[in-house]
Amino acid sequence: MLKEIKELQKTAFSELNKAQLLEDIEKVRIKYLGRKSKLSQILKGLKDLTVEQKAEVGKVANIFKRKISQEIEVKITALNEANLWPKIDITIPGIKNARGHIHPITKTIYEICDIFTSLGFNVVEGPEAEKERYNFEALNIPLDHPARDAFDTFYLKDDLLLRSHTSPVQVRVMEKEKPPIAIIVPGKVYRPDAVDATHSFMFHQVEGLLVDKNITFSDLKGTLSVFLRKMFGKEVKVRFRPHFFPFTEPSADLDVSCFVCNQKGCRVCSDTGWLEVGGAGMVDPEVFKAVNYDYDEFSGFAFGVGVERIAMLKYGINDIRLFFENDYRFLKQF
Ligand code: PHE
Repeated sequence: MLKEIKELQKTAFSELNKAQLLEDIEKVRIKYLGRKSKLSQILKGLKDLTVEQKAEVGKVANIFKRKISQEIEVKITALNEANLWPKIDITIPGIKNARGHIHPITKTIYEICDIFTSLGFNVVEGPEAEKERYNFEALNIPLDHPARDAFDTFYLKDDLLLRSHTSPVQVRVMEKEKPPIAIIVPGKVYRPDAVDATHSFMFHQVEGLLVDKNITFSDLKGTLSVFLRKMFGKEVKVRFRPHFFPFTEPSADLDVSCFVCNQKGCRVCSDTGWLEVGGAGMVDPEVFKAVNYDYDEFSGFAFGVGVERIAMLKYGINDIRLFFENDYRFLKQF
């Protein structure tokens, strides 16, 4: 009888091994563990055995039952799990993930910062929500200055506004540190302008500030000339056109020669041969006073350039709105 059970065990396990479907497994279970199973048939002969024999056969039969039912459980669980997953066809070509890249404005900011860091400037940033003192007062823009008009600045609440230029960071840095200072400040600025091809209520500037002993206008000219030639090509000429800013004296608008028409006159330069890219000047003594610098000991220059303007000129883009519309057909070209 023991031999019979051993045989039974062998066939039961080999049948179970072959079973692929749930119903095949169920068949094995009924065949070997059901009430009319082969095992029950064999065990019918128990009554003819001695007490010791009964005990031994009973033990072997129980072990068989336990093993085979455990194995059946394992197979059923594995099969159920496998069915939860979709069948994968590994021969289908994969879906390619589109690789992103940096925005043309960010790219232009990186380029500008690279040039200035190679000249020894440090990159710093400041808050976009700014206090009146930093955006105006300390920059020698008094209360009655037209730029203070609520229409020219986005006010968040009393004494808190969206900065209209990156110049406030000049003051923030000078308040904290003593000269020599050589910083470059990229960032977003905000003005309540109606949006058109050349205006946006938000755009980017890069501010520059250098303060030390014996800094002169020729240092400003030299630095900005190097910058503009690295940015637009060795051939470009640089022009400083007299202008006014409350926080610099003297002040100038910064122009590069039109590299689109080589100064023959074209639409991009409105037939003037020159392209304006920013403003600059020598730091006004009033600004030094506001940050407790001794303006007899130190002098410095500051400048601010428009990033969108530079990117538009460099890449031949004729509408500033393209930068902010998130149209992939435009963005993927950079
Ligand atoms: N802040 C000025 C502007 O936004 C630019 C500027 C910066 C001019 C620094 C002179 C010196 O127009």
